[in-house]
Amino acid sequence: MTTVDRAPRGLLTAGKLSPMRQVPQAIARPEYVGRMGPERVTASDIKTEATIEKIRRAGAIAAQTLDVIGQALQPGMTTDEVDAIGHEYMIAHGAYPSTLQYQGFPKSLCTSLNEVICHGIPDSTVLQEGDILNVDVTAYLDGVHGDTNRMFLIGEVDQAARDLVTHTKIAMERGIRAVKPGREVNVIGRVIEKYAKRFGYGVVREYTGHGVGEAFHSGLIIPHYDAAPLYNDVMEEGMVFTIEPMLTLGTAASKQWDDGWTVVTADGSRSAQFEHTIVVRADGAEVLTLP
Ligand code: MF3
Ligand code: CO
Ligand code: CO
Repeated sequence: MTTVDRAPRGLLTAGKLSPMRQVPQAIARPEYVGRMGPERVTASDIKTEATIEKIRRAGAIAAQTLDVIGQALQPGMTTDEVDAIGHEYMIAHGAYPSTLQYQGFPKSLCTSLNEVICHGIPDSTVLQEGDILNVDVTAYLDGVHGDTNRMFLIGEVDQAARDLVTHTKIAMERGIRAVKPGREVNVIGRVIEKYAKRFGYGVVREYTGHGVGEAFHSGLIIPHYDAAPLYNDVMEEGMVFTIEPMLTLGTAASKQWDDGWTVVTADGSRSAQFEHTIVVRADGAEVLTLP
């Protein structure tokens, strides 16, 4: 691509944050809430059936949160209103919104609009016709996290961005289908990158899938590009991790805003992402983040 395919609305700037949302004291918090620094949870990436069932229940709440948000989205809404809907849904179902006070993240989910690759902070930014929006929800319930995200089209969206969204979802699904016990996790990225390259998309490398469960990010890394011979962890039955490719209409290079979170494409081109939490089964992946 010789010209950068930017969103019709032009480049984004940060909006204003609303006051911090509260979580009822009766809802159990992850250990990282209220302090900075790395997570202190240590757990194997290979889970028992009882833990897998808990992750499925947390994952279902996260997926239902996305369903409810999808029904409410329309041009004119702010990303902070999206956060409010997600926050209320999760706490009404007894879950803690995992991103709230995770390493200082100030909101209950991530809203990543147009050129934002990931980790967008909900604020006073108004959704406009033609926008593409990723909403990333992680719910903490009964001691475990379920993590999922998807794209939403705001009104009429141009063909290039619609195709990017469609192809990014297919890329995630192909990554999920590449899961098999005995394979190295870098196989997932190889499959995703190969598909993305057909369309000339950028494949983001700096942000990856991850082990998830008792920890939000366990330390296990799942690349979305062909990283072999690196990231050669072997998939085993019962292993739980996310697959969450980020594909762009231009460069895969990213930069971060000075809010310390928002990650945007270096060239302002639009980015799309889809995410599921999965468990490795004998015959392939089982998705744990279904409504
Ligand atoms: N849910 C994101 C992921 O898929 C992580 C968000 S962390 C935050 O890994 F702090 F940015 F919210
Ligand atoms: Co994730
Ligand atoms: Co996520």
